[in-house]
Formats: sequence, structure tokens, C-alpha cells
Amino acid sequence: MVATSIYGEYEAYLPQILEEMMNKIRVINQEYKENRNCKLYEHLIGRIKTENSMREKCQRKGLAMSTKNALWEIKDAIAIRVVCGFVDDIYTMVEQLRALSGWRVIQEKDYVKNAKPNGYRSYHMIFDIVTKFPDINGRQPGHYYLEVQLRTIAMDSWASLEHEMKYKHDIKDPEKITKELKRCADELASCDISMQTIRQLIHEED
Ligand code: GTP
Ligand code: MG
Repeated sequence: MVATSIYGEYEAYLPQILEEMMNKIRVINQEYKENRNCKLYEHLIGRIKTENSMREKCQRKGLAMSTKNALWEIKDAIAIRVVCGFVDDIYTMVEQLRALSGWRVIQEKDYVKNAKPNGYRSYHMIFDIVTKFPDINGRQPGHYYLEVQLRTIAMDSWASLEHEMKYKHDIKDPEKITKELKRCADELASCDISMQTIRQLIHEED
């Protein structure tokens, strides 16, 4: 049996769209480096949501496992994570992304200023982007959704650890771990602010 992708005939476009959008972000970084002599982010990761996790998400949201739902109802089939050195850089990058032509913000969540109760911090944006490919609604140029998560290195390592815990179901004392994670998230946030302040002091004369 030949398994068909939940992304249907659009499957092959997704990695190409991802690459093109990541390149736009790389260009922002290069231009910033040329003008300001410092980088806006440390690393950039992109992914297409796997077949299994897309199917699992459809199920979790009570949606039929269709291409339309995978590309249009669920908005993170294509996702990019921007990991920055400093909190300020997150906000600078957010403004740069907002200014990109063909990128329209349709949702924004600032979990940096308003951390989740568990301590999770990140800046989330969902864009409606214009591509050269046809889309699920029969348009060409076609529209796709792109999720961008922006966070500091500290927020990123915290999120990986917390994510690991979610998938481990044999933890002895989950309440204790949850509490320790929350404490750690707050300490990291306070360190991020100090780092930011120190950088400002170093660059005061610039
Ligand atoms: P989803 O239905 O999972 O997409 O969540 P949502 O619609 O409530 O959106 P939200 O912006 O809150 O989260 C989107 C993505 O951010 C998730 O898929 C995760 O990758 C990440 N995220 C959100 N909250 C947490 C969290 O508490 N811990 C970790 N590790 N990641 C999180
Ligand atoms: Mg998600």
C-alpha cells in the first residue's frame, strides 16, 4: 500500500517554502550585521510538522485528518524557531519580520512579557505568507501559514527540558519537578534581564 501524505499534493512545496522563508530571516541577520556589527540571533531552526504529529494534532483538536485541515485549520505545518542572544533582539526581530513583504501577522502571543504559569517564555507569531506555489484554496500565488517562535538561548534550553518532562510518564515526583522548573524559568528570566543590562552598559558609548 502506498501511504499518501496528509499534506497531499502540497507536500513537496512545504520544505521549499520553509527554506525560502528561513532565507528571508538570514538576510535580515546579514543586513543587521553589516549595519550594526552584531547579530540578531544565534541560530535558526526550521521544521515541517511530521506526518504523525500532524495526524495526532488533528485528532487532539477534533478535526478530520484532511489536507485542508493540516494546511489551513492547523497553522503550524511550517515552523521556524529564532534563538536570540538577548531579549531585546527578540523584539527587534519581531519588528523586522512584521515588515517583510508578503508576510501578514494573523496571531501573536507574547509569552516573554506574560510567561505561562509553568514558566514557559517565548514570543509566538503566526503569519499568512504569500508563496510562488498554488495553495489548498486554489490560489496562485498561494497562501500558507508559518509559525515563528522567538526566544533567548536560556528560554530555549528551558523549553527543551520542560518538553522532555511532558513525554516522560514515569517521573517519581512530577510536582517537585514542575516546581523546580518554574523556579528555574524565573531565575533564567532574571539572568536574561541582567545580561541585557550589561550589554547596554558595554555599548553605552556606541
Ligand atoms: P498548540 O495547539 O500546541 O499549537 O498550542 P496553542 O494553539 O495553544 O499555541 P501556543 O502558541 O500556546 O503554542 C504553540 C507551540 O509553542 C507549541 O506547539 C510548543 O512548541 C510551544 N509551547 C507552548 N507552550 C509551551 C510550554 O509550556 N512548554 C514548551 N516546552 N513548549 C511550549
Ligand atoms: Mg504547535
